[in-house]
Amino acid sequence: MGPRLRHPAAVITAISQPPIPGDASQQRWPWWPLLPLYPYGRRRSLLRELIPGQLWSIEQLLGVFYVAVPIRMTVLRLRQGLLLYAPVAPTGEVRAALAELEQLHGPVLTIVLPTSSGLEHKLPVPAMARAFPQAQLWVTPGQWSFPISLPSSWLGFPRQRTKVLFEQGLPHGDQIDWCGLGPLDLGVGNFFEAACLHRASGSLLVTDALVAIGEQPPIIFNLDPKPLLFHARERADQPLLDSPELRRQGWWRLVLFASFLRPERLAILGPGELLKQVWNASRQPGGAANALYPFHWQPDWQREFRQLVPPGAPIIQVAPVLERLVFPRHRQLLINWLHQLSQLGEIRQLVPAHYEAPVPCTAADLQELARELGERPWAVDEQSWRYLASIDRNLVKLGVVPNCDS
Ligand SMILES: [Fe+2]
Repeated sequence: MGPRLRHPAAVITAISQPPIPGDASQQRWPWWPLLPLYPYGRRRSLLRELIPGQLWSIEQLLGVFYVAVPIRMTVLRLRQGLLLYAPVAPTGEVRAALAELEQLHGPVLTIVLPTSSGLEHKLPVPAMARAFPQAQLWVTPGQWSFPISLPSSWLGFPRQRTKVLFEQGLPHGDQIDWCGLGPLDLGVGNFFEAACLHRASGSLLVTDALVAIGEQPPIIFNLDPKPLLFHARERADQPLLDSPELRRQGWWRLVLFASFLRPERLAILGPGELLKQVWNASRQPGGAANALYPFHWQPDWQREFRQLVPPGAPIIQVAPVLERLVFPRHRQLLINWLHQLSQLGEIRQLVPAHYEAPVPCTAADLQELARELGERPWAVDEQSWRYLASIDRNLVKLGVVPNCDS
């Protein structure tokens, strides 16, 4: 007899992650390779100490097919143990790394799901909660699922030890300051993000709202450069070659995909040319596996990256997808949130759940960013933003998202 299904959300969670060695609850779900979530069953994790003795980052790659971007869990040292912010999949590597930190600094006390909409951060939470059965789980208000709205306990959160941030209190208020962004009505559910300032290290943790994108690929790609090499090509029938320049080219293209979904300088091949390239690729040794590449990057595509990521140190910015699809009519809400963050206490660095971290950041930097957001054009429809704008327009036209001005 096959395994019994407890509820749909638990299945989605389980099949998107590799089994945890020794975790019987994971071994009940044998279908996780069926979803096209890169890197399927070979997920690698990178542990980095961001602030000595205070703050660590565990990064993994996650994406659909080879559009893989790093996601980050941040581990905070509390006086009595550890807090996990934005969990990643608790693979054997992750559990071994956390076991070492627990030996030095005490047990994992608290797990925080700091977003109500970021699926990539929600999916690992039930498995991470099972990996640390003594830890308290805190989630942002308004957790939701799509296409079926399920009660919170059906989302895989352990009923007895799950609390809702802001509504049922805030954890470790003597060491951490919390600041919520939202809720915002996305039609299918809410957007809500919980940032927090770890006073001891001056680290401001955010999830998706702010990013700082580097010119070079993140170090995690040294463990698995294939997504970079896949996108560094010009055609499906080109082999995957490796060099620092090609890795950087692949990174720039991945950033454009992740930022704009369909960058302006990207053309999608017609069926004739696509079939020709697939045919050519399939005749090469090992080429068939990389044949699904229906893209053609038009000349000067690099300028599109440079408009997003100027040369030099990474700048703190609002992720384009959020600006154009979550906050197009709520700029002021974001500006107010930046001002609130700047009042929390002494901020020394920003640690987002994607891209670069830690990034030097002060309260004055956040105020300056708020001022810039208020003065520059917002959620425009031109160039790189055209595709995101078309999605937003259609959602408004269909009545999925409310058309209210901030
Ligand atoms: Fe995210």
